[in-house]
Amino acid sequence: MSIAKTFFGNLPNGDGVDLYTITNKNGSSVSLMTLGGGIQALKVPDRNGELADVVLGFDDPVHYLNTDLGYQGLLVGRVANRIRDAKFSIDGVEYHLPANQGTWTLHGGGRFSFTNWEVEEATDNSVTFKKFSPDMEDGFPGNFTLTVKYIFTDEDVLRLEYTVLSDKKTAANPTNHAYFNLSGKSEGTIENHYLKINADHFTETDSDQLPTGELGEVKGTMMDFNDLHKIGDKIDEPFRAIIDGIGYDNNYCLNKAPRDFTQAAVLYDEESGRKMEVYTDLPGVQLYCGGWLAKEGNPGKGDSKVIFRRGVALETQFYPDSVNFPDKFPFSYAMPGEEFKTVTEFRFSAE
Ligand code: BGC
Repeated sequence: MSIAKTFFGNLPNGDGVDLYTITNKNGSSVSLMTLGGGIQALKVPDRNGELADVVLGFDDPVHYLNTDLGYQGLLVGRVANRIRDAKFSIDGVEYHLPANQGTWTLHGGGRFSFTNWEVEEATDNSVTFKKFSPDMEDGFPGNFTLTVKYIFTDEDVLRLEYTVLSDKKTAANPTNHAYFNLSGKSEGTIENHYLKINADHFTETDSDQLPTGELGEVKGTMMDFNDLHKIGDKIDEPFRAIIDGIGYDNNYCLNKAPRDFTQAAVLYDEESGRKMEVYTDLPGVQLYCGGWLAKEGNPGKGDSKVIFRRGVALETQFYPDSVNFPDKFPFSYAMPGEEFKTVTEFRFSAE
C-alpha cells in the first residue's frame, strides 16, 4: 500500500484542495480530496484486470461546489437527506435550520460538503478527515466534530468509519454521496447495471419527497430489488413513490436489526464484470439514480459527464427525516461526550 499527496486545485475563495491517493498491491486506487472529505476517483479492475474509475466527479474542484451537480462523492453532515419544515425538536426544544430546498433542509444545509476538511492523519492505507462545527451552527445543537476515516485494502475494500462527538445531545446522520458507474466507460447510463437491495420496505413520501412516517412494502412494485435485476427494468414505471421522469430517489429500510453490520446492496455491471457490495451498520440506504441531474451541458472528468442517470448513489444512513420520527424510525442521537460511530464499506470485485 502507498499514499501520495498532490495538489488538486483552488476554490474561488482561494482555498487550495489537496488529493490523497492510496494505491494497493493490485494497482487499485482511491483519491480522496480535502474538499468535502470527498471521493474524487476510485479505480478498480474489471474481470480482465483493466483498471477504470468507477465514481463520477470533476477534473476541477470548483464544480464540486455546485449543488445542481449533486454532491458528487462528498461527505454529507450533520444530517443527510431531508428534514421537513427545516426544523426538529430534542427534549422539547425546537431547532430551526436553513431551508435550502423549498421549505425543507437537504443534507444539513450543505456546509460539511462544500468546505475543506482538516486531515487528521494520513497513513499508507488510510486518510482521516475531521470537521468541527460550533454549537448552533446552521441551527444544530452541540459543539460537534465529525471524523471520517477512509481505509482502502489490498482486497479492494473502501471502508468509511464515521465518528461523531458532541457536547450536547444532538442529531447526526452523516453519509457519503458518491455516484457509481461500474462500466468505467465515459458514456451510458446505469440503467443496465444490476442491483439488489436487501429491503422489504421503503419510506413512503409525499409529493415533495418528504417522508410521511409510513413504510411502504416493496413486494409486487417497481421498488422491489430483493432479486438482482437491472435498474432500468422498471425505472420509468409510474408509482406513487416516484416523481415522473426522475426514477429512483428513495430510502430503503434494510432487513436487519438497525445497527447490525450487514450487506445492504449489490451493484453489478455485466459487461465489465465489476461488482460492488455495500455493507453498513445503518438502517437505511438512499437509492438515487441522478434523475435530477441535467441531461447535457454538465462538466465531468474527461469525457465522462455528470449527467442524468450516469451514476447511482447508494447513501447509507438513518431514514430521511428521522429527527422528526425519532420514535417511529430507528434512530439514535449522539449523546454528550459519547462517541457515536458508524461504518460503511464498499467492497469491489469482478466476476
Ligand atoms: C437526494 C436527491 C438529491 C441528491 C443531490 C440525494 O440524496 O435524495 O434528491 O437530488 O441527493 O443533492
